[in-house]
Amino acid sequence: NGVITIDPGYKNTGACTSGITFLDGEKGILRYRGYAIEDLAEKADFLEVAYALIFGNLPTEEQLAKFHEDIKENAIVDEEVKKILEAFPKNAHPMGVLSSLTSALTAFNPSSVNVDSEEEMYNAIVKIMGKFPVLVAWTMRKKKGFPLNYGSKKLGYVENVLQMMFEKPHEDYEINPIVKDALDKLLILHADHEQNCSTSTVRIVGSSHAGLFASLSAGISALWGPLHGGANQAVLEMLEAIKEDGGDTKKYMAKAKDKSDPFRLMGFGHRVYKNFDPRARIIKKAADEVLGDLGVEDPILDIAKGLEKEALEDQYFVDRKLYPNVDFYSGIIYRAMGIPIEMFTVMFALGRLPGWIAQWREMRLNKEPIGRPRQIYTGENLRDFKNISDR
Ligand code: CMC
Repeated sequence: NGVITIDPGYKNTGACTSGITFLDGEKGILRYRGYAIEDLAEKADFLEVAYALIFGNLPTEEQLAKFHEDIKENAIVDEEVKKILEAFPKNAHPMGVLSSLTSALTAFNPSSVNVDSEEEMYNAIVKIMGKFPVLVAWTMRKKKGFPLNYGSKKLGYVENVLQMMFEKPHEDYEINPIVKDALDKLLILHADHEQNCSTSTVRIVGSSHAGLFASLSAGISALWGPLHGGANQAVLEMLEAIKEDGGDTKKYMAKAKDKSDPFRLMGFGHRVYKNFDPRARIIKKAADEVLGDLGVEDPILDIAKGLEKEALEDQYFVDRKLYPNVDFYSGIIYRAMGIPIEMFTVMFALGRLPGWIAQWREMRLNKEPIGRPRQIYTGENLRDFKNISDR
């Protein structure tokens, strides 16, 4: 009807219909394809969840085996990609590297760009599900100065990622089942979250029929920001800073509440969850278990628990319904697993990959129109043009 309403940050704007993820922010409910996140985190593995997100149902053993086989067939990248990786400085942030390499894959896999049929989509999907863990592992190996490797076809999806990340040049890496289970859980909890910033980015880029890999690369860039996926790195940096500063959590609580200070309590608050984040509950419990099982004593965990307790009792946080989110405790687990802090958001991207893919596929199958918001113009009216010498 020609009337435009403005909704900054799309706080109250629905952009699509979707059958993938159900989220009730008031009640703290999260379900993928109708399956409760608590059940999936406890009973499923990441690849099963990826299959359910992308194709709609939990797979049969046969379906899962075929999906995994097809992924394994694609678990190598073009040798030239190594040269691109080599060209990055060693201190480059792994998220920048991951986004660039994901986009670069388009150049080496042109058949994955113009995909229309379900079969072409499937081929692009198993390609990226195979190649992405290689890129994830390589961003870490690059940082550590380790030679680049490939995984093993004998391993499960998550074991393979660990093997590729941690295999040392002259030492065998033994997969610790506690670490594998914890990573499975973390990846499942991050696997989809309906129309968040990075997912909306993937859908909007994909809506122009840019290819899957280009859309994912844009999603990775969106995820990088500290208000989104980058929060997991920011949380740990914040907890470290509090520790270094003598552990005075009250000082940081005061900073977070001071409106003249841009500091926010990282890992707190969520656009949709206004009572609790169900993922955070599962992760908090997992953090206790994993650190206990691995015999890791991390004083940061005590600081995190102290901060959480104070915030939950503080009027400022209560009034604004600010609760710990999924990333308040995830970094503590990643650190216990030996994953460097700059890799945390890369791990989030690995988990979110199936969600992005599922949303992109749904958007294409629904034949959604190109995303193109409008605006209300607030600039100058028509002005006289003056030649440069007269300005
Ligand atoms: N610390 C202190 N104050 C906060 C915080 C925080 N972490 N989060 C929100 N607020 C305040 C904010 O200042 C505002 O106060 P007022 O009404 O007085 O102006 C009020 O709460 C509402 O905040 P908002 O920024 O309007 O809320 P939003 O829905 O736009 O933002 C958010 C949601 C997650 C970006 C925000 O809570 C935040 O910046 N949190 C810290 C970063 C973080 O942990 N992000 C990870 C999100 S979960 C992982 C993911 O899915 O990406």
